Amino acid sequence: MLETHIVSLDKIQSEALKAIRSAKSLKAMDEIRVKYLGKKSVVNSVMRGMKDLTPLEKPILGQRANVTKETLQKAVSEKLKELEQAEVQGKINKEGLDVTLPGLPIERGRSHPLTRIIEEVEDIFISMGFTVEDGPEIEDDFHNFEALNIPPHHPARDMHDTFYLPGERLLRTHTSPVQVRAMQRNKPPLAVISVGKVYRVDQDPTHSPMFQQVEGFMIDKKITFGNLKGALHQFITTLFGEEKEVRFRPSYFPFTEPSAEMDVKWQVSREIDGVMTEVEEWLEILGAGMIHPEVMRYGGYDPNEYTGFAFGAGIERLALLKYGLKNLRVFFENDVRFLKQF
Ligand code: DAH
Repeated sequence: MLETHIVSLDKIQSEALKAIRSAKSLKAMDEIRVKYLGKKSVVNSVMRGMKDLTPLEKPILGQRANVTKETLQKAVSEKLKELEQAEVQGKINKEGLDVTLPGLPIERGRSHPLTRIIEEVEDIFISMGFTVEDGPEIEDDFHNFEALNIPPHHPARDMHDTFYLPGERLLRTHTSPVQVRAMQRNKPPLAVISVGKVYRVDQDPTHSPMFQQVEGFMIDKKITFGNLKGALHQFITTLFGEEKEVRFRPSYFPFTEPSAEMDVKWQVSREIDGVMTEVEEWLEILGAGMIHPEVMRYGGYDPNEYTGFAFGAGIERLALLKYGLKNLRVFFENDVRFLKQF
């Protein structure tokens, strides 16, 4: 009787050890532990057969069963440790960070070409001693027209040219109102530029209802047209990084007297006798002049004591010239393939 029990314990032990050794997962180990060491384990069921043994045989079987239990417990805990370690190592291998691998490429954003031109224009004038001022895009009639000596019947005031807003307000049609605002805010001498958006009711495909201008002006005793030409010449040469051929043409603006426009030589393709040919042409880039005495008075300065020059240039035009482009629309279409080139 005792013999049979001992033989089955031996069998159970070697069978359990084999199962433990070949277990592949913690879950499998759990099942093995329940089967051989749990309450209803096969070892315990052998122990239940003890009741049929003699008092001398009972402790022998008991001791033998304990040996089996201890052996199996030891084997189980060793195997568990091994499996846990393997699991941790597996996780490290899977989730580990290899710092020697090259990183994922990060797309870098860039400034819009117009933003770059604006920053450059500001830098150039700051280096020449100008300060930068801002004006509101929503203006009133006084600053946009009246104080700039633009008479009530002037065509620029037409509904077809100006976006009017409720309550006597409008979207400024140029940056020139900053002249009067800056004069009202500051005492002379003044050297100011102001860059910003302006709005006109323009429908045709080459004109955008919104575009940007840079306004500049300098006021002091004895400012002359020569100062204007000198400042603009230095500005253009620095912006384009080379001596550009420019010319001044007489012109008319209500807020300057005398008035002029400045043209720059540029290369364009034109169809001549059916053949596309590169030709040099003049491109108008700005209006300028000596600030009108009326404007001085509106700004609160005495025109008998102070004189000044002013100019206004289109930012998009400057960008066309600087980057050798032909069409303004590329600045507003936001085609990433175009923008990426800057
Ligand atoms: N404000 C004018 C325009 O939008 C440009 C201009 C011309 C500005 C002459 C000036 C200037 O300051 O003196 O067409």
